[in-house]
Amino acid sequence: MNGQEPAANPASPLPRDAAAILGEAGVRRVLSPIEEPSGLPNAAFWSEEWLRLENERIFRRSWVFAGAVAELDLDTVKPVEIGGTPIILVRDGDAVRAFHNVCRHRGTRLVSAPCRKSAIVCAYHAWNYRLDGSLRSRPHFHGPNKVERFEAGARPDLALHAVRTEVWNGCVFVDLSGEAPPLVDWLKPLLERTRAFDFSQIRWIGKQTFRFRSNWKLVLENWMEGYHVFAAHPRLIDHAPMDVRWSGEWMDHVFYNDYLAPRLSDGRGEGGLPHFPGLSEDEKRRGMWFTVFPTFCAEVYADQFVVLSATPVAPDETVEELHFFVVGDEAATAGQYEAGRASLMSMWHDLNLEDVTILEELQQGRRSMAFEGSLMSPAWEVPAHQLAQRILFALADGEPS
Ligand code: FES
Ligand SMILES: [Fe+2]
Repeated sequence: MNGQEPAANPASPLPRDAAAILGEAGVRRVLSPIEEPSGLPNAAFWSEEWLRLENERIFRRSWVFAGAVAELDLDTVKPVEIGGTPIILVRDGDAVRAFHNVCRHRGTRLVSAPCRKSAIVCAYHAWNYRLDGSLRSRPHFHGPNKVERFEAGARPDLALHAVRTEVWNGCVFVDLSGEAPPLVDWLKPLLERTRAFDFSQIRWIGKQTFRFRSNWKLVLENWMEGYHVFAAHPRLIDHAPMDVRWSGEWMDHVFYNDYLAPRLSDGRGEGGLPHFPGLSEDEKRRGMWFTVFPTFCAEVYADQFVVLSATPVAPDETVEELHFFVVGDEAATAGQYEAGRASLMSMWHDLNLEDVTILEELQQGRRSMAFEGSLMSPAWEVPAHQLAQRILFALADGEPS
């Protein structure tokens, strides 16, 4: 919709439970223009029931970033929670699969921490699953010392429930509904804006995990708006002052923002790490960041591709993962780039902590009986203002037009 306000009302009515949480005044507030107090009411940041609806209507219907293929080189199994339901990513040779992380027998969660495995064995009664999800054996099921064994594929009705998975340049995405559009179509607005960047070159060098007490929507709003940079991240102002920044805009379901930095700087194109091949001088100085709704956030500079994913684990708690990719095999492994890799990751770590501190205070501010809605800046916060509307529309199952 390219920066335009969405239509005045959701195409379909809100589910009754969501409408009850917001109340009429709450719905009006979300749909209010940016010049008026607006945004989702406090309850949308504290209510378990609201999060249940978001999981059902947003996270279980869309592609969600679940991790990096390279993470599964050492730990071959990674448990994640998506849409409020436990999932495992599994590396099986060259294949990356995803399954519901629950035993077919009595419903025990199978894997609780990343680990290396050649089989997935339930801790309760030792049902044994292959890495392709099929059941290999179940001892004593039909009586003492009777071990039932199955050929691969013999009993699909006893296999782990598979989840649709696609990989894009080392990034693993899952779609719980099985009905989301093809992954490349979903990523298309991002890919079109970044045509000059050869993402087949990106190589994963590590990740950082942050768990903190703030609602996932606050993480996204904060990711989008550059208004806070001068106050919260002074070091970034040296690189890209406020006058090269703008509000960004939504392109369909993808938020886009960028700037053209006056010069490269450490951790932003000038840490000694190789650049994407064939970039023009302008492209080298351009910083770009995206949110592919709901929560796949990516930042692109000449020397890096960084992913931020924000997973709600409670209304007031988010697990955030930052995944770092550099450009080419050499950049990822050669000793000469070790310092560059380390400084890139430590800069992101420090910057992110600056945001986390604020995000936790934002969450606490949403306990205030005096907070009647955000007074957002029309210069900087239009996309964040529209995020609340997008969420409301997604819950109503309508698409902003
Ligand atoms: S619950 Fe998994 S084997 Fe019984
Ligand atoms: Fe920030």
